[in-house]
Amino acid sequence: MARVALVTGGTRGIGGAISHALKAAGYTVAATYAGNDEKAKAFTEESGIKTYKWDVGSYDACKDGVAAIEADLGPIEVLVNNAGITRDAPFHKMTPDQWNEVIGTNLTGVFNMTHPVWPGMRERKFGRIITISSINGQKGQFAQANYSAAKAGDIGFTKALAQEGARVGITVNVICPGYINTDMMATIPEKVMDQIVGNIPVGRLGEPEEIARAVVFLASDDAAFITGATLTANGGQYMV
Ligand code: CAA
Repeated sequence: MARVALVTGGTRGIGGAISHALKAAGYTVAATYAGNDEKAKAFTEESGIKTYKWDVGSYDACKDGVAAIEADLGPIEVLVNNAGITRDAPFHKMTPDQWNEVIGTNLTGVFNMTHPVWPGMRERKFGRIITISSINGQKGQFAQANYSAAKAGDIGFTKALAQEGARVGITVNVICPGYINTDMMATIPEKVMDQIVGNIPVGRLGEPEEIARAVVFLASDDAAFITGATLTANGGQYMV
């Protein structure tokens, strides 16, 4: 039977590409989204992938949502923590709300989603947790004290949990994309964008599919010996 994969924020951008790629690789895919019903409906019509709406910042919503998906499709064997937001501001202008929203979605959301799938993965002795962090969690970014903190937290989370999953067949890995051609880039002023692309050695933004292919590999049986890894995919912009 096809393995079930859940992708948070899985209806557009990097998450949409991941959902498509996992489906093409033979998984039964469920995608969550937080806001846009119309886009999610269109995504399901075009892809045949079921969508579920909840806020990953809410632990109870994640617990209930995971239970609903498992009742519909079967046990979740692959979790892709992709949902993420930005609320960029220089620190002297950053509000507590901007801090809390970003930490709540990008870091606490990863806890909220992973915690409910973890016991089943432990029992079945198989699981794949793949979290989408960011280059900016590795190097820091002006106007992103909130985002960089959350994304760096995702890397620490991964390294800790990988140690717990190792003996029960669960791998836990994190991918750090660089600047990828998605809606999120539209929030960056054009002048800043030109500078950013100028600093990417390959001379272009990444494409969502280039991240999706890495996810498919990490989810596969071929990647069973890879755990606790941080995979950078940033066109050479930051080498660690
Ligand atoms: N390094 C140093 N200084 C910088 C800077 C940088 N990277 N970016 C902006 N500044 C400076 C500006 O030159 C300006 O300085 P002056 O006042 O001396 O002219 C100052 O910071 C900007 O101050 P403002 O008060 O005008 O700032 P603002 O409140 O209007 O905020 C901003 C503007 C939010 C910083 C905006 O420039 C911006 O969005 N920058 C892009 C931030 C960014 O790269 N975010 C990444 C988003 S992509 C992503 O997050 C996905 C991923 O994982 C890769």
